[in-house]
Amino acid sequence: MPLNPKDFNLIRQLVNKRSAIVLDNGKEALVESRLSILARKEGIDTIAELLNRLRSCTASRLHDKVVEVMTTNETLFFRDIYPFDVLCSIIIPELLEKRKTENRLHIWSAGCSSGQEPYSIAMLLKEHFAHHTNWSFRINACDISKEMVARAREGRYSQFEINRGLPAPLLVKYFHQKGVDWQLREDIRRMVEYDDINLAAPQWPMMPSMDIIFMRNVLIYFDIETKKQILHKVRRLLRPDGYLFLGTAETTLNLDDSFDRKQYEKAWCYRPLIQPG
Ligand SMILES: C[S@@+](CC[C@H](N)C(=O)[O-])C[C@H]1O[C@@H](n2cnc3c(N)ncnc32)[C@H](O)[C@@H]1O
Repeated sequence: MPLNPKDFNLIRQLVNKRSAIVLDNGKEALVESRLSILARKEGIDTIAELLNRLRSCTASRLHDKVVEVMTTNETLFFRDIYPFDVLCSIIIPELLEKRKTENRLHIWSAGCSSGQEPYSIAMLLKEHFAHHTNWSFRINACDISKEMVARAREGRYSQFEINRGLPAPLLVKYFHQKGVDWQLREDIRRMVEYDDINLAAPQWPMMPSMDIIFMRNVLIYFDIETKKQILHKVRRLLRPDGYLFLGTAETTLNLDDSFDRKQYEKAWCYRPLIQPG
């Protein structure tokens, strides 16, 4: 049974206030099914009881859990493949040349879900750029969901997740079997530093300037004002000659005119516009 409008609004406001995620009308049944999963996990008998507990105070671990369960964590290894292709063939070689006095590259996967995106980048670096031994390749990754961040840190994936996008040679090379699952080698896991960060928070924690930012399939969940605020912060964090990747359904157009949209082979990416004068 879908939630009634009053209960749906309670969840909608709670989720929006804490994560900026917008739950549109029509999502009542989805919200109800996710709440019932959460109630079962938390040992709460009914959704009505769960809602009562939420109403009894304004902040609790249960409020955080509601936000987590409303996030959409769909992801896969080497998702959409083209951004990874151009990273390998054009962008990283170019940045290695440009940064050769610094010998370091900083990459951020923002909204990383269970880690397939940052680990795809880590494996790509290991596969193609490991001979740059005097370089520091640092990958940061974050998600609002503590559960996703914990899963990502563990780097443990089911056969189903492995089958989604991971080339067999990389499975053989970088994973070992753990029960019925597969776990990434520790040296690859150590290439990524995870944090739980709310991208919609007024301030982000201190981070180094980034050469490359992957923020794919995250902005779609926010309203226009939130997208603008996040892109403004991305622009400040990204180096002037850096690269931003968004999801295929996302753009900076009509949101932030300080980015230029450029096509590299089959991938689109966004680069800070050089301001005249
Ligand atoms: C659909 S997944 C995208 C994962 C990966 N970037 C990809 O493209 O495969 C979106 C992720 O954004 C996260 N997310 C949603 N709202 C967020 C927020 N306010 N701050 C940080 N992460 C958020 C969700 O928890 C989810 O894991």
